[in-house]
Amino acid sequence: MSKKGFKVEIFVVVVCWFCCSRALPLKPNREVLNDRPVIGILTMIVSDEVMKPFGRTYIPASYVKYVESGGGRVMPIRLTLTTSEYEKIFKSINGLIFIGGATDLETSDFARVARIFYKLALEANDAGDYFPMWGTCLGMQLLTVLVAGENLLSRTTAENVALPLNLTTDAHSSRMFKDFPEDLVKAITQEPLTGNFHHYGLEVQAFQENEKLRSFFTVLSTNVAENEAHFISTLEGKRYPFYGVQWHPEVNRFQWDRNLNFPHSSHAVHLSSLLAEFFINEGRRSSHHFDNLEEEESSLIYTHTPLYAGNFTAYEQVYFF
Ligand SMILES: *[C@@H]1O[C@H](CO)[C@@H](O)[C@H](O)[C@H]1NC(C)=O
Ligand SMILES: *[C@@H]1O[C@H](CO)[C@@H](O)[C@H](O)[C@H]1NC(C)=O
Repeated sequence: MSKKGFKVEIFVVVVCWFCCSRALPLKPNREVLNDRPVIGILTMIVSDEVMKPFGRTYIPASYVKYVESGGGRVMPIRLTLTTSEYEKIFKSINGLIFIGGATDLETSDFARVARIFYKLALEANDAGDYFPMWGTCLGMQLLTVLVAGENLLSRTTAENVALPLNLTTDAHSSRMFKDFPEDLVKAITQEPLTGNFHHYGLEVQAFQENEKLRSFFTVLSTNVAENEAHFISTLEGKRYPFYGVQWHPEVNRFQWDRNLNFPHSSHAVHLSSLLAEFFINEGRRSSHHFDNLEEEESSLIYTHTPLYAGNFTAYEQVYFF
């Protein structure tokens, strides 16, 4: 190699070290993307009596289809494994989703396993190993508990209601929304495109009063609950690729219960599609991989069959574990 070539290489190394030394490189600068991302979904503990005969934990198929629609594959993650098994899984997957449901956010197995992954994800991102995480509804609430180190949720009931988002000015420059077409951003603020199915949430005031949350997350949207409480509806990590939505983007395309206000308009579908693609693109920035092909194949959700659940739940299909 010529001397000139060597100098150029040193320059590249220095530039690279500079961008990797921050948790969140502003631009994926000549990053090699992973076009076969696998997204882990932590199974949810069954709480509904009608679902109990089928398993102890579950994943609604709507979340699986959501990931698949963005060009990703799903690995279901059980709650019964050892810490070293979770560490191995962490090195194999390219992102993680905490889904909605009902379970204790501090003492349940769901919370215990989430805490393990949260810690691993913080460490990885700090070391320049990009690893995105997403929480939906209870999953977003869980992220706030993990970051704050305490449960700051309060009653913010918005049950079975579709709402427009009250976007903050920060939303327009956020990673999540900045590439959205203008007409869709307008529609998000004016049309009921986000399905809410929750009793608890994080009030804007609780967020603002907590230094840990305030320094960790940027608030992208708020909404008003039935009791007039203003709650956080969309969050994005400042330094970490962690995202939270109090509403349910997956229902817009993959759940059809007539008794529930699932938004199915063209704008609602577009919103859901773009967010799925956004998160899977985040996963493309992770180069984690399984040790071998057999391990990958046996870990993915394709070896499982969802059960038809449209006649006893609000889901069309559910994977039970
Ligand atoms: C929207 O959010 C702003 C603060 O960002 C708040 O002052 C306003 O009351 C909110 N409006 C609604 C309708 O939620
Ligand atoms: C739901 O439908 C399936 C398939 O038709 C049937 O086997 C099952 O018994 C039904 N369950 C209930 C609770 O009606």
